[in-house]
Amino acid sequence: MKLGVLTSGGDSPGMNAAVRAVVRNSIYNDIEIYAIRYGYTGIFEQKIEKMNIYSVADIIQRGGTTLHTSRCPMMMSSEGVDRAAEILNAYAFDALIVIGGDGSYRGAAELSARGINVIVLPGTIDNDVASSEYSIGFDTAVNTAIEAIGRIRDTSLSHNRASVVEVMGRNCGNIALFSGLAGGAEAICVPELSYDADAICAKMLRGKDRGKLHSIIVYAEGAGDVDKFCAEIAEKTQMTTNKTSLGYIQRGGAPTAFDRILASRMGAMAVEAAIAGRMNTAVCMRGGKYVLMELSEALSMQFVFDSEAYRIAMQLSI
Ligand code: F6P
Repeated sequence: MKLGVLTSGGDSPGMNAAVRAVVRNSIYNDIEIYAIRYGYTGIFEQKIEKMNIYSVADIIQRGGTTLHTSRCPMMMSSEGVDRAAEILNAYAFDALIVIGGDGSYRGAAELSARGINVIVLPGTIDNDVASSEYSIGFDTAVNTAIEAIGRIRDTSLSHNRASVVEVMGRNCGNIALFSGLAGGAEAICVPELSYDADAICAKMLRGKDRGKLHSIIVYAEGAGDVDKFCAEIAEKTQMTTNKTSLGYIQRGGAPTAFDRILASRMGAMAVEAAIAGRMNTAVCMRGGKYVLMELSEALSMQFVFDSEAYRIAMQLSI
């Protein structure tokens, strides 16, 4: 048997642990394993090389992806995908294992429609892959965000300021929700729910009346115009309001134990799926268990925002 593996889209902490698991489990099972560097772009540029047991040594603890990654415009066109399928056919892989987010899943589905066997794993800090409760990298990103929120809280409290912390997530509010809940934020603004700046200010002013002189608000990048929001908060509360955008800090760094375990289990499961002939599937965590799902079914699922966690977060920050 012969497998290929690539990481695609935005890198995420734990991708290396997933690649290590794919490579080591392949070698354990006497499978030839090839790495494709720079995501789907590496197919077109044929940056494809055979891995051995040493290729993935000392990477389980490292952030980013040692295979490198890219967002590949060629995979957006039908001709591009045809060409990618042609190249992959020449390598005669029994399956291509893709570690990435939604966009990478869609690329994999296009390849699968052209007869290339694929198995996908959720790798993105955004945690917006509908088929899996957790994606590789999310836990690390949330932990990075709450560490930053803690530091911002120290200085916010010292100066009686309002601090708006902007986090990543594209169109998904999960990083904001989880870091806001864990970081004790007064308000959490997410793309999935409309927010009421007046109500947020009223809450801050009620806090002020009780002697709470600083505030932390977590704002997801997809929730709207953060600068406009900060100006509105400053005007209505008369508090000095500062914005901190955490940016790419959230995407780097050593993966947490949770992400390393998730990645190791999912990577190994992808190889075992290939051995069992379960092609064109997605490795998912559902109900706390590792399961395989048909890729078409995984892609048809709608992301569900955890409104219960949001409700609790708001109740705890009255
Ligand atoms: O990988 C996910 C993500 O970090 C999103 O949270 C963010 O919106 C986007 O990628 C940024 O993409 P880029 O790396 O292309 O700037």
